[in-house]
Amino acid sequence: MADLNELSEKLSAIKLEIEGELKGIENFKSAFEYRKTLMDSKTGKIGLLMREMGKIPGELRADYGKKVNEIRTWAQGEVDALEKKFKELEMQKRYESEKIDVTLPAKMRAIGKLHPNTQVRNQLVDIFGSMGFDIFEGNEIETDFYNFTALNIPKDHPARDMQDTFYLSPDFLLRTQTSSGQIHVMEAQKPPIKIISPGKVFRSDDDATHSPMFSQMEGLVVDKGITLCDLKGMLDLFVQKIFGEGVTTRLRPSYFPFTEPSVEVDVSCFQCHGAGCKLCKGTGWIEVLGAGVVNKKVLEDCGIDSDVYSGIAFGIGIERIAMLKYGINNIKLLFESDLRVLDQIDD
Ligand code: DAH
Repeated sequence: MADLNELSEKLSAIKLEIEGELKGIENFKSAFEYRKTLMDSKTGKIGLLMREMGKIPGELRADYGKKVNEIRTWAQGEVDALEKKFKELEMQKRYESEKIDVTLPAKMRAIGKLHPNTQVRNQLVDIFGSMGFDIFEGNEIETDFYNFTALNIPKDHPARDMQDTFYLSPDFLLRTQTSSGQIHVMEAQKPPIKIISPGKVFRSDDDATHSPMFSQMEGLVVDKGITLCDLKGMLDLFVQKIFGEGVTTRLRPSYFPFTEPSVEVDVSCFQCHGAGCKLCKGTGWIEVLGAGVVNKKVLEDCGIDSDVYSGIAFGIGIERIAMLKYGINNIKLLFESDLRVLDQIDD
């Protein structure tokens, strides 16, 4: 029959064994598992002690039970401490590995910007808007009448050869010039008229400075007493705002069927200021647009009394202005959407 001493020795031996096993525990999961193993009522070192309590003779049971309880409380405390320790360590490790350095520079996002054509168009709209022009949106698909006939370019007129036209049918075409908008405006509105009309135009033309689709901005002013001087004044202001202070215009005689007289407008070279350079081909002047006094016949055909009213008109090539302003020598660069090129162009 076992006595208390013997039982105590057995308990001490078990405690030693547990102590050894606790030393081998290296993480939270093992500590958690070890507690289950230890307390298992069929196989666990402490579980078995509890289970076998019934076999202990009555007179020893109270003392023995006390000792067993002590070991159990001790072992649970040890496992608790290990679990706590490993939990903290593991949290610490996670904090370290998931640490974010908020002072590191952020990844830069590519920021979009307006296409140079759009930038120029917006500038033109702002400049002429500040002079009191309204915007008229014309049609890209036009009739032969609005694109040619009403602009004093009847069928078989040699001026039709100036613009190689994309015909959609004998009567419909892709407009070759925003000038077609002039007729729509004069038909719909009585003077005073003061409009600009930016938009796409189309011509069967393709080289370093021409593209089958490009953009123009038409201008039209009709009122009493409008003269070529008004045109020159407005255009001087426009070129100064676009190309810089001190730039002036010069008007050269030209020919357009819908204006009489017609002029070709040059700007003084904003690169060499008249000294002569590659941009102005040594002349000190750069051709920028066509303009003129609205042909009386065009006014009359639109129902405007040409004895009372007169008009001026101009047509600006937007790509041409963008190419000059940003030093672009091939119009294709404006259509290729190569961000390495477009990124460099900004005002
Ligand atoms: N429509 C002409 C062209 O595309 C440009 C032009 C010239 C427009 C004279 C005008 C003007 O309004 O008066 O070549």
